[in-house]
Amino acid sequence: MQTVIIGAGAMGCLFGGLLSEAGMPVVLLDVWRAHVQALTRNGLSVEWRGKTRTIAVQATTRAAGLEAADLVIIFVKSGHTAEAARTAAELCAEGGLVLTLQNGLGNADILARIVGDERVVAGTTAQGATLLGPGRIRHAGRGPTVIGMWRGGNFQKALQVADWLNSAGIPTEAVEDIRPVIWNKLMVNVGINAITALTGIRNGQLLDLPQTRALSRAAVEEAAAVARACGVAVAEDAVQRVFAVARATAENRSSMGQDIDARRMTEIEMINGAVVRRAAELGMAVPVNQTLTALVETLQAHYPS
Ligand code: PAF
Repeated sequence: MQTVIIGAGAMGCLFGGLLSEAGMPVVLLDVWRAHVQALTRNGLSVEWRGKTRTIAVQATTRAAGLEAADLVIIFVKSGHTAEAARTAAELCAEGGLVLTLQNGLGNADILARIVGDERVVAGTTAQGATLLGPGRIRHAGRGPTVIGMWRGGNFQKALQVADWLNSAGIPTEAVEDIRPVIWNKLMVNVGINAITALTGIRNGQLLDLPQTRALSRAAVEEAAAVARACGVAVAEDAVQRVFAVARATAENRSSMGQDIDARRMTEIEMINGAVVRRAAELGMAVPVNQTLTALVETLQAHYPS
């Protein structure tokens, strides 16, 4: 399966590296020239449990001239999804698929509008990675990847993609209905990311005080109510699941926290912001998510230049 990964950040590199290591034909496409040069010259350096190995990868900054892809995987930050979708539309072979494993809700809809409903495979991954510098990542944790066709389409195709990821040692399951999976993951990000980003704490510290626990609980309960109103059967114990993830990733700074620390634009629009948008469509009030969204948007709009 000829594959292009758009967005060679930590997760793009991790998937690109594991697929390349298994001998799959993969090209990483990214705009960061120094990173692409390091990947091309030295390979991808992957740190895993204190040991480092190097994987030969193909990387480029230019989409022009790439071979038509059977699969394009999108790993850009959500603010760049539309642009990545246009590139994916150009790169896809006839019958090719576009897979998103990005955080949040809304990326698959953007992709579907641009590349066509039947091509989009969406999902979540519990693999974790951190970008250490040009050409270098740390594989922070292993976990399941779950995928499914976003708007119907041919389920056999999702099974093929899952088989292919499995054969590269990336444990993946294809499911008929991916929506609850995406909403359940969304609620983890809703309950952890903005609060840790705004307060500067690590994920585990969210559980230390009744104040942050209550804030997280309120944000997650609002999101769960919106999900149910959208007809999505999310987990009954959503809040406990979020707290369990905060505990399991206690030492991590959430991805949104890392974005704020590095003065980057965050994915707030596709996380708490997505809950606010869906709630507005349904005429529901979600004041906690609205406040968290407004605060993160304010913070990122006023980074010192
Ligand atoms: O976005 C993140 O940081 C991660 O999805 C999670 C699970 C909250 C862990 O940090």
